[in-house]
Amino acid sequence: MKNRNIIVTGGNAGIGLATSIALAKQGANIYIVCRSREKAEAAVQEISKASGNSHIRYFLADLSAQKSVRVLAATIRNELSVVDVLINNAGGVFPEFKLTEDGIESCIATNHFAYFLLTNLLLELIQKSDYARIVNVSSNSHYRGKIDFESFTKDKGYFITTAYEQSKLANVLFTNELASRLSGTHVTVNSLHPGVVNTQIGNKGTQWYAALFWSLTAKLFGVSIEEGARTSVYLASSPEVSKVSGKYFDSCKERKASEKGLDKNLGKELWRVSEQLCPL
Ligand SMILES: NC(=O)c1ccc[n+]([C@@H]2O[C@H](COP(=O)([O-])OP(=O)(O)OC[C@H]3O[C@@H](n4cnc5c(N)ncnc54)[C@H](OP(=O)(O)O)[C@@H]3O)[C@@H](O)[C@H]2O)c1
Repeated sequence: MKNRNIIVTGGNAGIGLATSIALAKQGANIYIVCRSREKAEAAVQEISKASGNSHIRYFLADLSAQKSVRVLAATIRNELSVVDVLINNAGGVFPEFKLTEDGIESCIATNHFAYFLLTNLLLELIQKSDYARIVNVSSNSHYRGKIDFESFTKDKGYFITTAYEQSKLANVLFTNELASRLSGTHVTVNSLHPGVVNTQIGNKGTQWYAALFWSLTAKLFGVSIEEGARTSVYLASSPEVSKVSGKYFDSCKERKASEKGLDKNLGKELWRVSEQLCPL
């Protein structure tokens, strides 16, 4: 991976941080995308120290806001001549229904629309690479997911897990539709489940009982962040998957996505609605 340019969104914490360290150890140039300068600077230090690699940089963006993603993509296009790997990893759980400045519900805005917009805006730079991989961090939660397009902009009885499951199903659908749009090119795009991983994801902004539930679950059943990064690192760097595209992975192995995740018409409809709410 020496001198490959790799972008990792949410690279300052959890799975994204461990992914960045592992790929930095392989000699890649790492560019993390973070929303806090302070956290970004600390993470750059940590990744450099842990990997012995000094080519670690950060970009700042609030990925829930389309304007910020557009500025981010423009900055990346200015600073890099090529992107070899894009890892869409940043995400979260959102306890309450809240619209972003674009009028989109926060969970789907952060977990799906950011993947959709950033990937499309960087596609030209990715196509310039002879390596060209896109890795979308989804979740096995997608197996329970359903898409309700109206819920993207309206409160239809919001529930934290339903919204999360929907957003992770959207990751799988987006991956598969993009793979079919890119078929015949050298660019690959795959999605993955990182495992239940002992990160802070369930403790950010959630009610105390949800945070407690998550902390216990993650501590009792969760794997380490290093283990949680394994499939992302595999999809970004293994020669075994250099020609594999449009697949879902769990524990570094291909796994059949849900029926809904494999529904081509639903994928096309998601793309159409996404473009309507987030023009490319
Ligand atoms: N942990 C699990 O068990 C698990 C299971 C399945 C799937 N996943 C998926 O794995 C991915 C990483 O999750 P994690 O567990 O590592 O969570 P995490 O420790 O909370 O890390 C999430 C990262 O995303 C960043 N982020 C969130 N919203 C952002 C925004 N609006 N703009 C910019 N950055 C933003 C966070 O920044 P801050 O540090 O500023 O918050 C953080 O760097 C997510 O896509 C999640 O859905 C996790």
